[in-house]
Amino acid sequence: MLILSTSSEDLLMCSRLLKNGNTVAVPTETVYGLAANALDEDAVKRIFLAKGRPADNPLIIHISDISMFPEYCFPTRSAFLLADNFWPGPLTVILPKKTVVPSAVTAGLSSVAVRMPSHPVAKRIISLCGFPLAAPSANISGKPSPTRFEHVVNDLSRNEFVAAAIDGGRCECGVESTVVSLIGDHPCLLRPGAVTVEMLRTVVPDLTVADAVLQKLPQNEKALSPGLKHKHYAPAAETVCLTGSAESSLRYIKARAEGKKTAVICFDGEEEIFSDYTVIPYGLPEKPETLAENVFAALRKADGIKDCERIFVRCAPPEGKGLAVYNRLLRASDFKVVNTEEYV
Ligand code: TXA
Ligand code: MG
Repeated sequence: MLILSTSSEDLLMCSRLLKNGNTVAVPTETVYGLAANALDEDAVKRIFLAKGRPADNPLIIHISDISMFPEYCFPTRSAFLLADNFWPGPLTVILPKKTVVPSAVTAGLSSVAVRMPSHPVAKRIISLCGFPLAAPSANISGKPSPTRFEHVVNDLSRNEFVAAAIDGGRCECGVESTVVSLIGDHPCLLRPGAVTVEMLRTVVPDLTVADAVLQKLPQNEKALSPGLKHKHYAPAAETVCLTGSAESSLRYIKARAEGKKTAVICFDGEEEIFSDYTVIPYGLPEKPETLAENVFAALRKADGIKDCERIFVRCAPPEGKGLAVYNRLLRASDFKVVNTEEYV
């Protein structure tokens, strides 16, 4: 894997690689994406091979200009309203697809997910290419999404299906884009992100929230978004989310650590309280955007602790930008959430 900078020459090199059907990891404002020409079926297949991604999980296509929007899907009035308000930025909309989009991108669905990123590097590469880029998060399937360049290197540097990666530093949002389906009668939130439910409802007041955002799908229920059913973001150690005070969380952890190597992903300023364990502070609950920025890095750090058997994560309420963090932690812990106040 070739390592590229964000210099003009390197971005040009990146666009050449993409034009030749290669995959390249690129920074976006949400997470790093593993990009390929969305209109080239073989290039798209290379993304699935690189990630070990199930073929039934469709990809988002990324555009750099609003004129590209109606080329690949049939935008509705709500779609243009959302685009006006939140693009370029961390919002993806799902609409009926046009036939130019290969079925490998959409995993055979008749809809396609579209987003216009705000990251200057991502935007520049798409305009240099002149075609949309299909790009899932640039991690091995099932691992936390990469929000730092080192995450991409750790996951993909020896991957035969990845030609290059651009070092764009940290990703600002830290969680993947908000996904809204515009296919049914009402707009429906499938994945929460930095564009919050409250922000969306200023534009589409009838927005609903898919059950799967906060609940485990019953085994036999068909997922609105295939991504909702796959195991995600999961460290190897057993991971448990804790709500409740720091004090009751500590009591709960103490009673269950049983001499096992334990990591605690806590809020900033709580390092002392949990100092019997490996502490990984990840931000402030009153500033959920800080938690979002660091949540995947924290999960990866905990996963990297040798022989770590248990990870406890202090969890902020699922409100505003906190909903996206909560949703990712639910998946990382396979929906194991404990209100430690109930154990006093
Ligand atoms: O922020 C992001 O969205 C990042 C960056 C790279 O842009 N990309 C990303 O892609 O998170 P990925 O593949 O990790 O997540 C895409 C999600 C999946 O949950 C997928 O199932 C869903 O979007 N999705 C894609 N196309 C869909 C469709 N036609 N219908 C329903 N869900 C779809
Ligand atoms: Mg992903």
